[in-house]
Amino acid sequence: MRLALPSGTRRFGSLHIAEEARVLELDTRPGNGKETEGDRGGSSQSATRGARTMCFSGQSLDRVLTEMVIVVPCKNEELSVIRGVISAIPAPCLVILVSNCRGREDGDDQYKKQVEMVKAFGGFGRQILAIHQKDVAAAAAFRDSGMSELIDPTDGTIRHGKGEGLLLGVALAAALCPERRYIGFVDADNFNAGSVNEYCKAFAAGFAMSPHPELEDTMVRLRWASKPKIRNGRLDFVTEGRCSKVVNSWLNRLLAPSPESRNGSCKMHPEGEPNKSFVTTGNAGEHAMTMNLALKLRMAAGYAIEPFHFIDLLEMGQVLQRNGGNNPCMKTNGPGLDGTTRGSTANRPVRVFQVRTLSPHLHRSSDDEHIRRMWAAGLGSIFHGLAPYHSLLRADLGRVSEVRQHIRDYAATHGGIDDATGELPSPTIYPALEGIDMQKFRARLAQSSSLKSFGLAGMNNLLKLV
Ligand code: GDD
Ligand code: MG
Repeated sequence: MRLALPSGTRRFGSLHIAEEARVLELDTRPGNGKETEGDRGGSSQSATRGARTMCFSGQSLDRVLTEMVIVVPCKNEELSVIRGVISAIPAPCLVILVSNCRGREDGDDQYKKQVEMVKAFGGFGRQILAIHQKDVAAAAAFRDSGMSELIDPTDGTIRHGKGEGLLLGVALAAALCPERRYIGFVDADNFNAGSVNEYCKAFAAGFAMSPHPELEDTMVRLRWASKPKIRNGRLDFVTEGRCSKVVNSWLNRLLAPSPESRNGSCKMHPEGEPNKSFVTTGNAGEHAMTMNLALKLRMAAGYAIEPFHFIDLLEMGQVLQRNGGNNPCMKTNGPGLDGTTRGSTANRPVRVFQVRTLSPHLHRSSDDEHIRRMWAAGLGSIFHGLAPYHSLLRADLGRVSEVRQHIRDYAATHGGIDDATGELPSPTIYPALEGIDMQKFRARLAQSSSLKSFGLAGMNNLLKLV
């Protein structure tokens, strides 16, 4: 894979966010076919027509993919669509399907069919885990291990939501395959299987770009080449989704303020203006990170999960410091993964790569109401997440008070205010998973009825061991 490297990186405390990198070639022969030292399973850099590019050989990507888990959150997508997504995930990756498909009440056991579909892969050497989000034992595992926030009080199971599904996926990966260093997330409603293959390789290339993999954590966020839409009978290759357009523009006000906005004359983002700027992946449904980071990040509910990453990364990077550094959302309740208590392990620097893919993204199209709720939740997580820093002034950030005020104004004029509260929605923010008691989590999970493993010989033993 060959990528055009980011042209710059902005630094916020110990958080580094790179400008967009671009996939130029899916496959490449580094050094014009002449193998160079760096290409033997590694990478090579060169400057082509002004842009610095970097090549990653198949072996170097495979080395990362072998250490990667891919979580696929799904609901009631057609089996053939989910099968296509799993088929396209590079074989070295371990796949975790987290399903929140409808229950059995209507006589149609969708989850059973999903498991049968997944089982068919096991015979071909793929390693796959599947679990249902409403699994009673999985909920008990979270409750007993110190993460009762995830539990829906109305039925005692894990709450609905994409963010909640991803959290279950991360916890499963940490509990059952702790040797894997990376975790990525790929939506199940992807009609173009081949693009999923590129997404996973782009994750791997992003991790391989980290200059100090042993010293820092990495997050890779994808921006698709386009999202084709049918308009007036023609395919329109839209380059920025309706929700991303809104959320990116406000993240840019915060993270890449223009000189005017720093002088206090920030204007509201004109609706429909395409975003060509620094943050292009505010709502990156397809994203990946080191497991270490996945366990430290506080994640937001539902579709606010991706925009909220930026707020928590700023807090981890000590740019935003709640109560002088004591984050009240960090609980200490029992030993975590490494035997320490929640919130007590030191944060490493984090580097964020934004990568633009070659493949377009084809998925189930959503109505305007869904999009409105999605950007409102994303902006709400930023608006409320920034509340403790309302008066913060820093040279590298937009004025927080102004950004918040303008976000609110935008929401008020575009239908983003919650009728019940008179405010932007305030998505639940879950504590970091690093604080859960992993032994208890694993022990309770062993009683799960929906957890299935295929192609993982030792998995059943691992669960019985605890
Ligand atoms: N397990 C689980 N639980 N999966 C869920 C849930 C849930 O409660 N809700 C949604 N999903 C799955 C869907 O089945 C789908 O595979 C994926 O999450 C994305 O959900 P969509 O409903 O298709 O989201 P979208 O297309 O509107 O938005 C996507 O793109 C946005 C950026 O444009 C998502 O990836 C967003 O998170 C992203 O911000
Ligand atoms: Mg979708």
